Amino acid sequence: MSKKVLIKTYGCQMNVYDSSRMRDVLAPLGYEETESVEAADFVILNTCHIREKAADKVYSELGRLRDIKLERAETGREMLIAVAGCVGQAEGAEITKRNKAVDLVFGPQTYHRLPQLMKQLQDTGKSVVETEFDVSDKFADLESRPQISTSVAAFLTIQEGCDKFCTFCVVPYTRGAEFSRPVKQILTEAEKLAAKGVREVTLLGQNVNAYRGQGASGPESLARLVTQLSQVKGIERIRYVTSHPRDMTDDLIEAHAQNDKLMPYLHLPIQSGNDRILKAMNRGHTTAHYVQIIERMRKARADMAISGDFIVGFPGETDAEFEDTLRLVKQVNYASAYSFKYSPRPGTPAAERADQIDEDVKNERLARLQSLILEQTLAFNASCVGKSFDVLLEKAGRQAGQLIGRSPYLQSVHLEAGNLKIGDIAKVEIKSIGPNSLSGHYSPVESNIRS
Ligand code: SAH
Ligand code: SF4
Ligand code: F3S
Repeated sequence: MSKKVLIKTYGCQMNVYDSSRMRDVLAPLGYEETESVEAADFVILNTCHIREKAADKVYSELGRLRDIKLERAETGREMLIAVAGCVGQAEGAEITKRNKAVDLVFGPQTYHRLPQLMKQLQDTGKSVVETEFDVSDKFADLESRPQISTSVAAFLTIQEGCDKFCTFCVVPYTRGAEFSRPVKQILTEAEKLAAKGVREVTLLGQNVNAYRGQGASGPESLARLVTQLSQVKGIERIRYVTSHPRDMTDDLIEAHAQNDKLMPYLHLPIQSGNDRILKAMNRGHTTAHYVQIIERMRKARADMAISGDFIVGFPGETDAEFEDTLRLVKQVNYASAYSFKYSPRPGTPAAERADQIDEDVKNERLARLQSLILEQTLAFNASCVGKSFDVLLEKAGRQAGQLIGRSPYLQSVHLEAGNLKIGDIAKVEIKSIGPNSLSGHYSPVESNIRS
């Protein structure tokens, strides 16, 4: 009888990619995926350490799992519990100390060793903590494992780790130093995905545009990797996330003008619209530099949709400095953006500062920023009504006969399927907007579909 694993994923897209690769690593051991805790013999929490709330969630979830595990033990049925991901990396053995029900702790760079870790657990009967890493090891191991992909749009990690050390951020500590996978490894993975019906790949990296992977004759840039990927048969759309302003090179901007497969959507976090705060954050760029990149991107592709990340209430941020952030948002005009209250993270320089901002002030700033961003998102969506663009159909809609797809600008688009099927790319006219998605109409003429 097959065993069942439940993998709960928190945090960023790279964790989503890692979770699916954990599934690939466990498949040869007889594990099938389940979404139900009751059915699960093994529960893995693939965790995020970016903000305090994210890390707290893990401990409350572990409390619940411990109760289930104890109840089960009375009936003689086992349940293994693992903490993976960035909390695993950051807190290591602290987790097994705090919660004795946890059997395994491992980090983002060690999950390919799950079979050995599970064997060690079985042999010793003691919890196993594994957070030492060599990132090139992981990808070399994963390369040989078939992927159980299930969608027509897939993530593909090409770069991992960060050398930037923004003063608020834990990522350089949880994901380690910047590492780029070799070009050939990435092309092979893309070919395998395409052979399974994948039509869109989103290239992932904590600093994806800092990519410098080994190519046939030396290190290659992200732009050159994208050129090669767009020659992979079956891959029709390419995205990349997350970029850093410091690594936004001319050739990448130019690629957006040249390559139709590169989607007109750029997620480029700035964090603050004030230069003093950017400096205190150790971002290594100014607002003027950021605005200039956006202008050049829009010159390369007039329809470029811009997204970003913001932190409000960084230590020492004054009202006037926060107002600069609102001003920048107005200047850029975002299609979407994420914003967060500054959360002090253990071990990061900004957490040590004495000038932390009051929670009330942070709440008020966040509400103002989020309402401005929402206004811009709604306006962007409204501007799409009446336009036609290519939609990649990804899944069935809630109602029979409906399909849900994605626009080039990453919006969800709902439509009546007609003769369309999942995986088709169809020219769709946008008819109306809802709170989180667009509704479109498709005319079934030959030229409107690419299957
Ligand atoms: N590598 C990416 C993003 C990493 S984390 C980049 O450099 O942009 C994703 C987002 O979480 C960040 O862009 C930032 O806005 C937010 N974030 C990171 N640390 C945070 C903290 N301590 N408090 C609040 N938000 C934080
Ligand atoms: Fe964190 Fe800054 Fe690195 Fe992004 S660039 S992962 S925000 S340290
Ligand atoms: Fe979170 Fe780690 Fe991603 S801290 S945002 S899961 S890199």
